[in-house]
This record gives sequence, C-alpha cells and structure tokens, in this order.
Amino acid sequence: VIDIRTLYAQTGMFTFDPGFTSTASCNSTITYIDGDQGILLHRGYPIQQLAEKSDFLEVCYLLLNGELPTAGQKTKFESDITHHTMVNEQLKSFFNGFRRDSHPMAVLVGVVGALSAFYHDSTDINDPYQRMIASYRLIAKMPTIAAMAYKYSVGQPFVYPRNDLGYAENFLYMTFGVPQCEPWKANPVLSRAMDRILILHADHEQNASTSTVRLAGSSGANPFACIAAGIASLWGPAHGGANEACLRMLEEIGTPDRIPEFIARAKDPKDSFRLMGFGHRVYKNFDPRATVMRQTAHEVLEELGAKDSPLFQVAMQLEKIALEDEYFISKKLYPNVDFYSGIILSAMGFPTSLFTAIFALARTVGWIAQWGEMIEDPTQKIGRPRQLYSGDTSRDFQSIDKRS
Ligand code: ACO
Repeated sequence: VIDIRTLYAQTGMFTFDPGFTSTASCNSTITYIDGDQGILLHRGYPIQQLAEKSDFLEVCYLLLNGELPTAGQKTKFESDITHHTMVNEQLKSFFNGFRRDSHPMAVLVGVVGALSAFYHDSTDINDPYQRMIASYRLIAKMPTIAAMAYKYSVGQPFVYPRNDLGYAENFLYMTFGVPQCEPWKANPVLSRAMDRILILHADHEQNASTSTVRLAGSSGANPFACIAAGIASLWGPAHGGANEACLRMLEEIGTPDRIPEFIARAKDPKDSFRLMGFGHRVYKNFDPRATVMRQTAHEVLEELGAKDSPLFQVAMQLEKIALEDEYFISKKLYPNVDFYSGIILSAMGFPTSLFTAIFALARTVGWIAQWGEMIEDPTQKIGRPRQLYSGDTSRDFQSIDKRS
C-alpha cells in the first residue's frame, strides 16, 4: 500500500479534488464559461447572439469546425446531415425488445450504443473522414431515435424523417405527426422554440456527461459507444435529468399556496430535498441560457394560450419567491436552464419522460465535437484519475475458520 506521502514523494504532485471543482481535465477551444459573470461563449460567440440570430445546425457547424459557415458551407452541411437522418430498418427490432413503458433514456443508451454494430466504417477513429461521418450520423439520427422512442412508448407507428423540413421541425414532425392522419402542420413559434432549446443545450464544456464521453473516448472506444456513455451520465437528476425532476416537482407542488412548504424543505439541512431547476456547479449568477429560455417560455405559453395553466402559475410564483429568498440569494442559487425548458416542453405536449432525451439529442453535437477535439489533441492520454486510498494497510490472508 502506498500512502499519499509516498506517492507525492514519487511523483512530485498529487491533488485530491472530489467532483473536479478546480481541476482542468483538458485543453479546449470550444466553449468558454465565466460562472461568476454569467457568460457563455461558443468558439467566442455569446450564447445570446447564437440563440437570437442563428439556428441549431449552424451552431453545430460552428462547434464542429470552429467557424460559422459561409452560405455555401451551410447548405452543404444541412444536406450532409439530412442525408443521414434515416436509421437502418434492423434498428426497429431493438425498439421491439423494450417494454412499452421503458424510460426513453434507457432506450437511447441501448440504441445509440448499438449504432456501432451498424456503422463499422465509422468506428475507425484514426481516419478524420470517418470521424466526420460518425459526427454527422450521430447528429442526424438522434432526433429520429428519440422520436422513435416516444412513438414506441405510445404505441403509434414510427414516423420517417422528412428531409424537406428543418432539423427542429423534423423532430416535432416525427414526434407528433401520425401517418395517414390529418397532415401535420408546423407552428413556426414552436419550431423556433424547439430550435432554441437545442441551441441552448448544444455544449457546456466539461460537465459530467461530456467528461464521461471524453473519458470513454480516451481509451480509443468508438464514437457511438462514447455517446452512449454520455447519455447514461446525462440521465442523472443532478445533470440532464433535472428538467424531468423539476417538472415532477412542479406537479407535486400543484398550487402556489404550497410553495412555502417546499422552500422550507429545500432550506432544511436535515432534509435531502433540493429545489429542482435551481443552482449550478459553475454559474453563481444567472445562467445566460436560462435568461433566453425564460423569454422563450413566455413566448410559447402565450402562443398556446397556456399562461394561466396551474403549472405555469406555480413555476412563476416559485421563481419569484426563490429569487427573493435570503437562503437562495446567499447560496447564489438561481433558476437554471432546466427550470424553464421543462415548462416549455410540457406546454408543447412532450411527456415528461422525454425531456432528458431531448437534452441528449441537443448535446450530441457538443459531445462529438469534444470527442473529436480530444482525438486530435497530441497531448491526449488515456484518462486515468488517481485516488486517495483510505482503506486498510497491508495484512495477511486468514483462513475462513479463523475469521470472527
Ligand atoms: N435547492 C436547495 N439547496 C441547494 C440547491 C437546490 N437546488 N442546490 C444547492 N443547494 C445548496 C446545498 O444544499 C449546499 O448547501 P450547504 O452549503 O449548506 O451544504 C449548497 O447549496 C451548495 O451545493 P452543492 O451541492 O455543493 O453545489 P454543487 O455545485 O455541487 O451542485 C447542483 C450543483 C448539482 C446543480 C445543485 O445545485 C443541484 O442539485 N441543483 C438541483 C438539480 C438541478 O437543477 N440540476 C441541473 C443543473 S443544470 C444542468 O445540468 C443543465
């Protein structure tokens, strides 16, 4: 057994940083966050400008390539992505293997991981062209797979992608369209809101799921397996699962008069309850994405005539009370992006269980861009954190008759 002092003597340095609160795991040029100032930049561009002036596929191009596309590059990229939106017919069999009430994230972990069984060419991580094709395949197929998970859960036929539609619109179509029924019509306010949700979730530097993708990829695992690992990590309620947990909490609160009871529980040190959709590891100020998402929530609920819904009333009242509460102010706990995204998705008709899957489909571009950056980094090594061992020191094995 080597203790920490010996290790330090051997290596010269040893840091113990649970939760990696002050340890950089990599060098990256993709996303910059200043949590105290509430700043988020992708390749230098403020998230507010991207959400306002860009669209999701343009942001994907930016994250993958480092620059915004020219008009020609944009058209080519859109055509490349739409070329890959279909999934292999065999993949349908995977869905049939799941129970109808399976959580969509469970389905996503399995089906996305299984893509590596279909695209052997894209598993060659040393070929830059194949890495690019793997990125396109993942970005293009995620909405199809997420929509299929939804359709399977409600017992409706799968809806094939329509490549004349935009990325967000196509996802709404595959989710809410029903073949041979009334033709599905896009609502431009909802399509734009969906696109904005995707932009706002596209990347967020070295969060738990992205770090998981990088760690999985550092061993040379193929991109589909790495993204499946990221999906698994995203699922937790402290990360991507927060939008679902937040919505369930709002439903449990039910009416504004019950808010003080939940606020009191969140403040009680003996109660493990946390106000879902509040707080962030990095932002100790208003999350800039939350500001955009808040505005989008108001636009969508206005469009749908749902501003008086009990859920929205509870959410708005909770936001007001928490923002004025001394406990939340002193701990710098602001509503995060998931607080508002859940409200929007619910108003649009998505079941709560699909929220995190939508987050996953948006984050896929960030994961794959970070994975690609890692592969190209000459300083990249297999991720291998050390530990602070606090178990027994060396001792001799005892035969079973001598153990007490
Ligand atoms: N409600 C009540 N108290 C909270 C909350 C909350 N939502 N979040 C943090 N606190 C308190 C903690 O109890 C702790 O109090 P203490 O100092 O008395 O011990 C203090 O604030 C600091 O909390 P930590 O857990 O140390 O902060 P950390 O940075 O590790 O956690 C996290 C960040 C996980 C996001 C946390 O705020 C949380 O659990 N929030 C609710 C879940 C959520 O909304 N997650 C979504 C994150 S955004 C995303 O993934 C896109």
